[in-house]
Amino acid sequence: MSVATDTKPAASQTTSLELSLVLPTYNEAQNLPLVVDLVEKALAGVNWEIIVVDDNSPDGTTKVARELAQTNPRVRAIRRIGRRGLSGACIEGMLSSSAKFVAVMDADLQHDESLLPRMLAALRSGDFDIAVASRHVEGGDVGSGLSAVRSWGSNLANNLARNLLKVTLSDPMSGFFMVARDKVDELAPKLSSQGFKILLDLVASANGTLRIKELPFVFRERQHGESKLDTLVTLDYLGLLVAKLFNDMISVRFLMYSAVGATGVIVHLITLQLLMFAALLPFTTAQLAATVVAMTSNFMLNNQLTYRDRRLKGLAWLRGLLSFYVVCSVGVLANVGVANFIYDAQPLWWFAGAAGAIMGAVWNFVASNAVTWGRS
Ligand code: GDD
Ligand code: MN
Repeated sequence: MSVATDTKPAASQTTSLELSLVLPTYNEAQNLPLVVDLVEKALAGVNWEIIVVDDNSPDGTTKVARELAQTNPRVRAIRRIGRRGLSGACIEGMLSSSAKFVAVMDADLQHDESLLPRMLAALRSGDFDIAVASRHVEGGDVGSGLSAVRSWGSNLANNLARNLLKVTLSDPMSGFFMVARDKVDELAPKLSSQGFKILLDLVASANGTLRIKELPFVFRERQHGESKLDTLVTLDYLGLLVAKLFNDMISVRFLMYSAVGATGVIVHLITLQLLMFAALLPFTTAQLAATVVAMTSNFMLNNQLTYRDRRLKGLAWLRGLLSFYVVCSVGVLANVGVANFIYDAQPLWWFAGAAGAIMGAVWNFVASNAVTWGRS
């Protein structure tokens, strides 16, 4: 017995682990050593660890993390392969912790690590379940760290969250927070691993049961590398809002897929109308051609938005498009069949066209999710 205790590292002998700091990374090789250094200084006197969750960054961030871990026993690294996504990485990191509290912070120096001790103090007091670093409370600032479009999107998203979900956070888009570890276990099954709005997801999933402490901070500018979140992330965010509104009955992915499907119906109808009334094609030919056009547009939009995290590129893109065609050709048969059937009974071009397209869309989701963007 005593032999086993003797071989334990010094840190775990003194006190039990109090804080795990999750650092999600994608191409942060240059920033990571600097962040670890700053955290080390900020958390002097606390028993903490860092969990780097890297999505197999091409710039070798995992290697840098491993090297740090070899010399610093407080650092450990998780390398995820074949997966991309901020929320998913944060969830995995948090769940791998056995500390009392767990924090999530960006690994690009934009988040002010000197807030960590104050967040910890708030949780230690027992008065709060979660401490959130906010750019929108008195004393906080987005600084010049966000582009104008991003700031606008961010404000819009904040207002929607407040009004629709009744989430009383002044900065629900913040990616910097600390939470009691047991709350994470409780809420984990409800969280969506897609997208990047992990904080909002946690708070919304808790249905108002989390006691929240907000602390102001100034969002710093990025020094090395670039942001991985583009303006499109706002869409993810809207998807999450709607999914939460419907109490998680439908997935964010299905919602996005449906939205893309809706644009497909419009593309389809416009093409159909052009082909019938401008090109004077017979209905069946026009409907068939419109279906191919809508299918291609759906593939491209889904690949760009719905399956951002599994986005197909290069040869895989081409293979994906072809498999999308193949998978959907069964749907096309059903589509044209249904449309023709209706058109024969009642020559109402738009009604017949739409009914056919919807028929095809439902089939498409089930099949393409499994085949085109399915994990090999
Ligand atoms: N593992 C993993 N996988 N990490 C990721 C991924 C991913 O797919 N995408 C981004 N990260 C990491 C980055 O390496 C960085 O450490 C952190 O997540 C934040 O990513 P940035 O790309 O720097 O995001 P940002 O600065 O544009 O956005 C920040 O502000 C938003 C509010 O406007 C982040 O703090 C967001 O969380 C925040 O919502
Ligand atoms: Mn950043």
